[in-house]
Amino acid sequence: MNILIMGGPGAGKGTMSTRIVKKYHVNHISTGDIFRSEIGMETELGLAAKDYIEKGLLVPDEITNGMVKNYLEHLSDKKSGFLLDGYPRTLDQAVAFDKLSGGTMMAIDIVIAMEIPFEALAERVTGRRLCKDCGAIYHIKSQPSRQEGICDQCGGTLYQRKDDTVESLNVRLDEYTKQTQPVLDFYEAKGLVKHINANQPIEKVWADVASVLNGYSFG
Ligand code: AP5
Ligand code: MG
Repeated sequence: MNILIMGGPGAGKGTMSTRIVKKYHVNHISTGDIFRSEIGMETELGLAAKDYIEKGLLVPDEITNGMVKNYLEHLSDKKSGFLLDGYPRTLDQAVAFDKLSGGTMMAIDIVIAMEIPFEALAERVTGRRLCKDCGAIYHIKSQPSRQEGICDQCGGTLYQRKDDTVESLNVRLDEYTKQTQPVLDFYEAKGLVKHINANQPIEKVWADVASVLNGYSFG
């Protein structure tokens, strides 16, 4: 079972992905996480992506498509499929991925669309904190760590993403409207999209996501 989770910046894709991966044993492929890890390691790919990401702009399609293809080809543990988080997010990427995966085990079976008004996103993004070591996601209000600045799971230090500013969020929202909304229409036309109200407490959003996924078989 291959899942695509979509939604604006801060909609809760990463938060739901953590739970989906744990419950359904799928590989989590977050292009944002991969880019941030490459930036941290100062690789060629990271250096190519850094400026775009910090400004809130999308990384060019040829870089992103190549990275995802390579990543999928080298997955050592195929598990019960994968969860794409943040890819495809342009029509070009959706078409490229369709060509690569159509009629194969890599085809997308379901698209979870996390719906939330843009006005709700600034608080989510500016209050987000992440663990430097394990990537766990926190929020200073809705999901605080027990000890400020320290990860509950591994004791790592929490940090703020460089693109989690209001200025960068506005650019990301603009990119989302112009480039990502058409991707949702692309999958809508294939009848794959399930809409989730992401503007609810985390446990409620999770109950809705799980109730959709429980209707599918993972194996
Ligand atoms: P990416 O890392 O994918 O960022 P994004 O799409 O902007 O989404 P976020 O990760 O910011 O939000 P999220 O939906 O995961 O929310 P989260 O669960 O953390 O991409 C970053 C950049 O990389 C892009 O801008 C681009 O430059 C580049 N990139 C990536 N993919 C690309 C691609 N395919 N093509 C080109 N470029 C690409 O939650 C947010 C906060 O809210 C957290 O603090 C959380 O605790 C809290 N929260 C979550 N759910 C709830 C809830 N229900 N109630 C209250 N609080 C909640
Ligand atoms: Mg995320």
